[in-house]
This record gives sequence, structure tokens and C-alpha cells, in this order.
Amino acid sequence: MGSQIVIAIDGYSSCGKSTLAKALAKELNFIYVDSGAMYRAVALYFLRNQIDPNNHTQVISALNNIHLNFHSRDYESHITLNDEEVSAEIRLMPVSETVSAVAAIKEVRREMVKQQQRMGRSKNIVMDGRDIGTAVFPNAPIKIFMTADPKIRAERRLKELLPKNPEITLEEIFENLAHRDYQDTTRLESPLVRAQDAIILDNTDLTQQEQLLFALSIVEPYLKNK
Ligand code: CDP
Repeated sequence: MGSQIVIAIDGYSSCGKSTLAKALAKELNFIYVDSGAMYRAVALYFLRNQIDPNNHTQVISALNNIHLNFHSRDYESHITLNDEEVSAEIRLMPVSETVSAVAAIKEVRREMVKQQQRMGRSKNIVMDGRDIGTAVFPNAPIKIFMTADPKIRAERRLKELLPKNPEITLEEIFENLAHRDYQDTTRLESPLVRAQDAIILDNTDLTQQEQLLFALSIVEPYLKNK
């Protein structure tokens, strides 16, 4: 089966990638795939089972015991870890604090990338993450690299997390985003970097509707000429 259309959205932590990816998927009737949720679910498994990221044998055996599945409902993506719905738990601080270290492990990335590439083989997808346009789908016809002012990003994430997490502070979130960006951009294995052919979208001063229109202005001409 030939490859389908992939829209790759990469960028820093909490700069609206998943909001844009979901909206685009809905507009175009594509499948939305949240690659970050996969790394978060692996990190959750590592936490629960006290897997040492530096212990190769433990990592390999953990990967053999991890089965992830997406269930898409109303363009919200739900992920299961060994048949347990973990979509809410993977957003909490314990996972946010460990995920980038887990995502830096070569064997973890190799396995996730394999699964992600499989998803792009049979369906038109919008996938967001850190290495989608560089490593997972380097030939994706549409690549968007998102960025936004770090303070705005922290404020947006605070709003998202507060309802379920009334204790959380802006400082804590700000630190976590900065730390993850540092880890993601400096790791050896497919670090976060803009693909040369990715279009930059800085949404610091854009509404959700404005960023969607910007993305559609890139995608629609491509789809028309296909
Ligand atoms: O939503 P947010 O921007 O906070 O992060 P996420 O997309 O849920 O990703 C969580 C973490 O997973 C990132 O900080 C990266 O360390 C890792 N990740 C990755 O390494 N590669 C991807 N394709 C997606 C996420």
C-alpha cells in the first residue's frame, strides 16, 4: 500500500501543536495522531514499574510489555496503555517531569517511530511531535514548525491543567517547559530541530482560528494541486 498524505507538526512544548493538529484533522477529515501521548504513556509505564532508563535490559523488556492504542473520538485522541485508558494521567506532572528523559532513549524512539510510520502508511494523518518532519516522515509534503513566547506557553498550559490540578503553579509549569525544551533540543537521538522545509508558525499573538487559517492557507493549495 502506498503512503498517504502526512501533515507533520513539530515544535516546542506547549505551543499549541495538538490544538492545531486536531483542528486541521477535523477540517480535512484526516486522522489526528498525538505522538507525544505515546512517549508519555511509555514514561508512565516506566514510572509505575520503576524502570531505570539507563538499564538496557530493563528498557528492552519494558518495551516488549508495552502495548499502546489510540481511540479517536470527536477528534480527541485517547490512548490506552495495555488496554487501560491513561489519557488523563499522562498529562500530570509526574509524567511531564520524566517523559523527556524516557523519550531520549534510542530503543524507545526506534519502537515509537516504527509504530508511527505504520499509522501513516494506510491513512491520511496529521501527526504532532518533535521529530515528525525530520525523522518519522522526512518526506511529508506539509511540515509546520510551531513556536510561541515561553511565558504565553506556560500561561496556556496553566489554564489547561488547573481544573484537574488546583495546586499547580505557573512557575512549576514554566520550569518544566523550559527543562523539556532543553532536553528535547540537546538529546543525541533525533533532537527537536526545524526541518529545513518546515514553515514556521509563531502563534504568540494568534487565536486558534487564526492559526488554523494560516495552516489551511498552506495545506489547501497543496491538496488542490495533487
Ligand atoms: O503537549 P506538550 O507539548 O507538552 O508535549 P507532548 O507533545 O505531549 O510531548 C511530551 C514529550 O514527549 C516531549 O517533551 C518530548 O520529550 C517527547 N516527544 C518526543 O520526543 N518526540 C515526539 N515525536 C513527541 C514527543
